[in-house]
Amino acid sequence: MSRQIAIDGPAGAGKSTIAKAVAAKLGYIYVDTGAMYRAIGLHLMREGVNTDDEAEVNAHLDSADVRLAMEDGMQKVYLNGEDVTTAIRTEEAGMMASKTSAYSKVREKLVSLQQKIAADCSVVMDGRDIGTVVLPHADLKIFLTASVEERARRRFNELKKKGQQADFQAIMEDIAKRDYQDTHREISPLRQADDAILLDTSDMGIEEVTAKVIALAENK
Ligand code: DC
Repeated sequence: MSRQIAIDGPAGAGKSTIAKAVAAKLGYIYVDTGAMYRAIGLHLMREGVNTDDEAEVNAHLDSADVRLAMEDGMQKVYLNGEDVTTAIRTEEAGMMASKTSAYSKVREKLVSLQQKIAADCSVVMDGRDIGTVVLPHADLKIFLTASVEERARRRFNELKKKGQQADFQAIMEDIAKRDYQDTHREISPLRQADDAILLDTSDMGIEEVTAKVIALAENK
């Protein structure tokens, strides 16, 4: 029988790092749902769609074929057959994803894809609405969070490590804006499911959080 672990939380809380490590340890498939919303965001950006216009966004959804694939232990994201794994990682694509993920047609398309993946195999799925909407009967639900300052600091260090320009204040404002958009949208806003376990990782290292989630999974 397939098992499901849902990890939700705000941008930059470390969901993907933890989800990936837990999936590798348990032999489950890691599903990064944010990457799917980013791929749709990138598609709309490339098509020059006015994202304030929901009808225009809806009209461009059928032409976006989003797929996830595991290659050499790495998750790849494909948009209409093109590998966009790196292209979706810009702040712009993240903001576009945050904005367009508020539209019901965008969510319907991706939620159904996510549920199909989880029906076939054991998954660790991360996102914003996994425990509340996508996998309401998940075996384990985690709500991962950290302070805005700490999340901005992690993102800042990540960019610096890659040799990229980084402005701490701008990153913090961007994260706060994304938090607001994600928690205040009408459909499936980011919120902790009633039966989710809250983990504040502000003062916790990756290994400590991973070990905690694995212990919780094993106790289920
Ligand atoms: O996790 P991320 O930063 O890659 O996600 C990008 C955006 O996609 C995020 O700001 C909100 C949206 N998203 C969502 O609405 N639901 C999900 N399950 C995952 C992401």
